[in-house]
Amino acid sequence: MSIVSVPAVDVPRGRTRTVRVALAGCGVVGGSLVRLIRSGHAEVAARHRIRFELVRVLVRDRHRPRDPTLPHEVLTDDADDFLAAESDLVVEAIGGIQPALRIARAALESGRRYVTANKALVAAYGPRLAALARRRGGRLDFESSVGGGIPVVRALRDSLGLAGIRGVQGVLNGTTNFILTRMAEGRPYAGALAAARAEGFAEADPIRDLDGTDAAEKISILAWLAFGVRPDTLPIRRRGIVPHAERLVRDARALGGAMRLVAECVRTSDGVVASVEPAILQLGSELASIQDEQNLVIVDTERNGRIRLAGPGAGGDPTASALLGDMVRSSLRLRSGAGAVKRAATRDPRTSRWAVSVEGHHEERLRAALRMAGISAAPVRRSGGTGLVVTEPVAWQSIADSIARLEAWGAEPVVSRYEMV
Ligand SMILES: NC(=O)c1ccc[n+]([C@@H]2O[C@H](COP(=O)([O-])OP(=O)(O)OC[C@H]3O[C@@H](n4cnc5c(N)ncnc54)[C@H](OP(=O)(O)O)[C@@H]3O)[C@@H](O)[C@H]2O)c1
Repeated sequence: MSIVSVPAVDVPRGRTRTVRVALAGCGVVGGSLVRLIRSGHAEVAARHRIRFELVRVLVRDRHRPRDPTLPHEVLTDDADDFLAAESDLVVEAIGGIQPALRIARAALESGRRYVTANKALVAAYGPRLAALARRRGGRLDFESSVGGGIPVVRALRDSLGLAGIRGVQGVLNGTTNFILTRMAEGRPYAGALAAARAEGFAEADPIRDLDGTDAAEKISILAWLAFGVRPDTLPIRRRGIVPHAERLVRDARALGGAMRLVAECVRTSDGVVASVEPAILQLGSELASIQDEQNLVIVDTERNGRIRLAGPGAGGDPTASALLGDMVRSSLRLRSGAGAVKRAATRDPRTSRWAVSVEGHHEERLRAALRMAGISAAPVRRSGGTGLVVTEPVAWQSIADSIARLEAWGAEPVVSRYEMV
């Protein structure tokens, strides 16, 4: 019997290159990245013949004690000093628009490669930064900005580019999914939010997660990659789980389904439409089965069927591992680009069934508002004296008109997309 030895990794020939890295931000994600660069250096060198050298780390407060520790001369709290450092690659894990945008522009303007975890920045300025990178011979990578450690950006940008993407749908926010999972187990909203904070899945101020802003930024980035629509021009119908999380979960339970915050972008005959909204899903369905802080992205394609990518959507280590993947890739000088430019639709032509509920004494108003919009709806029996109906399939605009009318009448309607079969 002959024994064939197979190397564990495909080791490229040649000398190890040093890539000088300037890292902006050393918090949850940046700190994990520093640890990963240190612990993974042998594997990166063996696989790719690259050695990352941290030449500068930008933070807000350089005197604060840090774990991981960094040499005094590497840390700076001065963005000019940070940008002046000679580097090949700038990595950003600060978040928000400024000073991240200034750093991105300066880095790309000078022809350097730029890797970011910042979804707010990519959603607002991604195409302009990508164009700047192309003009100056640099590169923009942002895998970790959507789905944490799930390689969805790469899948859309490269692998599925020619698969004829029809739509992308997913649970993209780990904080809300964790809260909804705990609430389905019977915890009240406040307790579920406290548990999310205790586990590190909710920030001190989690409003951008709870009101759907975070998921909207992510789906706009995915729409850009899937359809070429500029994310800052894509109108997104956005509703989060606040302020009526308890009522949303109660409605889902009354209808025998599971509540999830679903983000999606879809190609229609009118253009690309996108939404982030609470949806009541069949128990056991793909999206309903995603628990806790996990994320799931489903890409519906003409030629490859439905592709599913699931995994931890946030957290320092998964996000840092996606950043490191981008850093390696960026250093290997591979090229790729977003798909052909398509237009965003001005209205959403798709129809859905909607679960609409109001508190008990507004029941008659609910029926009247739907009747005035010409929408027929079936009442749902349940305890608690709350009016709950499920409508026939209608476009969002019809429901939006009814909601506006109900709100003007002083009712506080709660609306979920009804996805039960
Ligand atoms: N956390 C996650 O699970 C996760 C997942 C995916 C993507 N992301 C994205 O990753 C990015 C970073 O998130 P994070 O959770 O690591 O945030 P974080 O823990 O708050 O860390 C932010 C870092 O940026 C520094 N910083 C903030 N403002 C600054 C300023 N004006 N000038 C210089 N430095 C500044 C902070 O300095 P100090 O240390 O001195 O305060 C800190 O080191 C965000 O874009 C976020 O959306 C996060």
